[in-house]
Amino acid sequence: MSILQPKLGNYNLENYDVMKERFHWDDVKSQFSWSKTGKVNLAYEAIDRHVANGKGEKVALIYSDSLREEMYTFSEMKHETNKAAAMFKKYNVAKGDRVFIFMPRTPELYICLLGAIKVGAVVGPLFEAFMKEAVRSRLEDSEATIIVTTPELLPRIPIAELPHLQTIILVGEEEKLSTGSGKKFVSYYSEMESTVSDDNTIEWVDLEDGLILHYTSGSTGKPKGVYHVHNAMLQHYQTAKWVLDLKEDDIYWCTADPGWVTGTSYGIFGPWLNGVTNVVRGGRFSPDDWYKTIEKYQVSVWYSAPTAFRMLMAAAPEIMKKYDLSSIRHVLSVGEPLNPEVVRWGFETLHHRIHDTWWMTETGAMLICNYLSEPIKPGSMGKPVPGVEAAIINDKGEKLPPYEMGHLAIKAGWPSMMRKIWKNELKYNEYYSIPGWYVSGDTAYQDEDGYFWFQGRNDDVIMTSGERVGPFEIESKLVEHPAVAEAGVIGKPDEIRGHIIKAFVSLREGYEYSDELKQEIQAFIKKELSAHAVPREIEFKDKLPKTRSGKIMRRVLKAWELNEPAGDLSTMED
Ligand code: WT7
Repeated sequence: MSILQPKLGNYNLENYDVMKERFHWDDVKSQFSWSKTGKVNLAYEAIDRHVANGKGEKVALIYSDSLREEMYTFSEMKHETNKAAAMFKKYNVAKGDRVFIFMPRTPELYICLLGAIKVGAVVGPLFEAFMKEAVRSRLEDSEATIIVTTPELLPRIPIAELPHLQTIILVGEEEKLSTGSGKKFVSYYSEMESTVSDDNTIEWVDLEDGLILHYTSGSTGKPKGVYHVHNAMLQHYQTAKWVLDLKEDDIYWCTADPGWVTGTSYGIFGPWLNGVTNVVRGGRFSPDDWYKTIEKYQVSVWYSAPTAFRMLMAAAPEIMKKYDLSSIRHVLSVGEPLNPEVVRWGFETLHHRIHDTWWMTETGAMLICNYLSEPIKPGSMGKPVPGVEAAIINDKGEKLPPYEMGHLAIKAGWPSMMRKIWKNELKYNEYYSIPGWYVSGDTAYQDEDGYFWFQGRNDDVIMTSGERVGPFEIESKLVEHPAVAEAGVIGKPDEIRGHIIKAFVSLREGYEYSDELKQEIQAFIKKELSAHAVPREIEFKDKLPKTRSGKIMRRVLKAWELNEPAGDLSTMED
């Protein structure tokens, strides 16, 4: 199975080459009323517009976890998000203010996120597994004034150390409301109960006004705040149509958490801009729960990640056989290389070609994809979205011929590209070091048919279980542990997770290696940063390889790990 041909069918993307020739983003714009009025609000377009178009009774959200099962129509979502918007207004949220949301995946998260967008705020979703330091650095950098959280997660917010934070909205029991910190505590449920839904709370903004701030990791420095604007909706909408192939009757499930960009661009914006029923499953991963979700809600389009597919693959085949998965018509993947093996598994067991998609937090929406209408080459990420120019270039910005490896770069100007790195112009400019091109940080090549093939990251960023982790953040935390003198962190290839985090650590005087110490260090990272940042392996070394300027050479650590030659060591000390 070197090339998987499409089944016959009706696709939103009729013919890739034709679309690529004639498509322009202005064509999408003209479908929305704001192209005439000049006034826009993504939350209105995603929810209220469908009510105005007579689709109010259609189910927008199907939510379930082990305790709750709820459905919300577009009308109900409009009503709830209006109330949330009124609540934010009441607590002085103004256009451009940063509203952070730190809570588990529940309907309240979705309602607050869209409610905040309705009042023109810039939302900052935080993954629920984040611990104190991860939460602090993001709230500090963004200067968020208000946060929505739960009583359970509240202890992880160092509120006393965050001068800009004024208001804390608690989704949970009222008696747990804290006082005495000089901050305002608000009970979400009582507030929502006493608020009326009013369409006039919507703040009409400009296409270039801020929408969302997603923090992501680089190889150096603190997490960066990737800033997106309302204009991104053009691409959310159009790629959800072409690539997810969403249609009126689809039941769509994106498994990502809104703490990551997939969980907002395609867990909220893309499907709802297309007026499609969106399934959200709360709680943790389990093969049974996942298959049950597909069966029970008749999921037809399913967007997930290689790690999840590999975990399903590793589970007993009997589990899958218990469920009727025949509602599925389209399966997609993002986040890491989609191994041909996984594509083969999908083809043999789900009877579907898994469609890979490539993009980044910074790009806001899909850029290189496989389409239902096109053949798939397993192992390839596919071809650029119509309206997007991608290329493999060298350091000088020259395009390279087929099969030559180089920078995967995108011609600047697609609608959903980030508009800035929050308060860090220098970092933003680094992406445009080659004039005219956004340089992704990935190495790839293109074949003679124009398909792109991922080869690796050319920085030290680690993709583990589909999540992007910066080694620097973990190293900085490791050296805060009293036993740790120095630390270097790398990604070690792993069959299920893509990579796992491995730390090399040297100890301070007076400390000795032991299993207990290793576990203590792991617990320390889990407590301070988050579970997904914990090094699964820690190797103790007397000394770590460093440059003469004192920088730990992760490249050498990687070579040690993989038993490969370490390359040029001329800058190494000693
Ligand atoms: C990095 C971006 C966009 C949501 C998920 C990740 C890697 C992403 C693929 C793919 C191989 C991929 C790249 C990229 N990546 N998709 N289909 N094949 N690698 O977003 O956390 O911003 O990470 O994820 O290395 O640069 P992110």
